[in-house]
Order: sequence, then C-alpha cells, then structure tokens
Amino acid sequence: MNDPKSPRDPLLLDHEADGIQELDNNLPRWWVWLFYLTILFAAFYLTYYHVLGKGTSQLTAYREEMAKGEAVKQAAISRFDTALGNVAPSTETATLDRGRELFLTYCSPCHRPDGGGLVGPNLCDDYWIHGPQFSDNVKVIWNGVPEKGMLSWREQGMKPSDILAVASYIYTLRGSNPPNPKIREDQAPAVPAQVYE
Ligand code: HEC
Repeated sequence: MNDPKSPRDPLLLDHEADGIQELDNNLPRWWVWLFYLTILFAAFYLTYYHVLGKGTSQLTAYREEMAKGEAVKQAAISRFDTALGNVAPSTETATLDRGRELFLTYCSPCHRPDGGGLVGPNLCDDYWIHGPQFSDNVKVIWNGVPEKGMLSWREQGMKPSDILAVASYIYTLRGSNPPNPKIREDQAPAVPAQVYE
C-alpha cells in the first residue's frame, strides 16, 4: 500500500489495483529501437515475399519438403518390391513345417487345409490371379487384397520370416491336385447352377 507519509513520486499514476501501483517511466531506448526494427523487418519481409513474390515462401518450402519425402518413400517402395521380387521359396524342413503350421492356423479356413480353395482360390493349380511367381504369392500374402477378402498378413502382425515360410509351404502344394478344388474364377459359370430339391 502507498505509505501516506512518504513523498509522492511524481511519476506515480493515480490508479492502483490490489496495492500494485504503476510508475509512468519512459520505455528503455534499446527496447523502443528493437520495436522499430521489427516494424522495419515486417515491412521488408512483406514486400519481399508477398508483394514481389521473391524467395522461397513457407508454402513452397513445405511443398518442396513433401516432394522430397515422397521421392524417399517411392524409392523405399521400389527397393522393397525388388527385394520381394528376389526371394526364393525355402526347401528347409523346419521352415516348411513352420509354414504348414501357419497355413493350417490362419489360411485353411479360406483356402482349405489341402489348399483346394473355399472362400479363397485354389492354391494347388497353375492358375494364379496375381501371377505365378513365388514372389507374386509373397506380395499377395504381404499386402493382401483387402477388397476381395484376403488380408494383409503383414498388417496382421505376421513376421516377414513367417510370411516367407507360409509362402514356401504353399509353394509345395502346387500340382498336388486335391479333390473337388474350388472352380477357377475365369471358369465359373456366369449364373450359378440352380439346385432343386
Ligand atoms: C478370409 C479369407 C482368407 C484368409 C484367412 C486367407 N486368404 Fe488368401 N485369399 C483369399 C481370397 C478371397 C483371395 C483371392 C483374392 C483375389 O481375388 O484377388 C486370396 C488369395 C490368396 C493368394 C493369391 C492367389 C492367386 O491366385 O494369386 C495367396 C497366395 C493367398 N491367398 C495365400 C494366403 C495365405 C498364405 C494365407 C494365410 C496366411 C491366406 N491366404 C489367408 C482369402 C483368404
């Protein structure tokens, strides 16, 4: 609180809030100059970037960064595709046993335990929707065909080594000729045969 006995400071303003009073000092010179400088800078900045349209604006810088990022991403995807394209089916017993176990657990509900096909296509014949190479199989298992009901097993959390194991296992089913295989997509009758009882 203001001490009524002390002489009043001529700079003291006459308002008070909760005992806090204000002195009407001049702003420090350095502060004022800094303030003027920011105004000058703003004028220069505005003219240079927005009126003259020179320099790299934030938007252009953002787009350039995004394009660089996209290039890195595309390079990674093509490296990944090349890496997948170079894989070969394993013939090791341990890997094939692991693949069989995975197949019977996760894949047989749709592809049948013998691979003959049910919801999913027959994996034992020479007809392939997504290509006959081993790597085509690996890519389908890895990426899935979600719109057709085939999951991306990588997204399901299957390890790359397990994907290769299960792909290697189904590779061994080729030509195994199981009974009553699912009808090929391109040979299925346009209208399903009607059954009368
Ligand atoms: C929910 C059912 C379902 C499950 C489970 C499933 N698939 Fe499939 N799979 C499909 C369908 C449907 C297709 C056909 C996709 C298409 O028409 O493009 C397919 C396609 C495939 C193909 C490509 C066939 C071709 O002709 O090119 C392979 C390989 C395959 N699945 C392997 C697997 C493996 C390995 C598993 C287990 C890890 C598995 N699938 C689990 C439904 C399933």
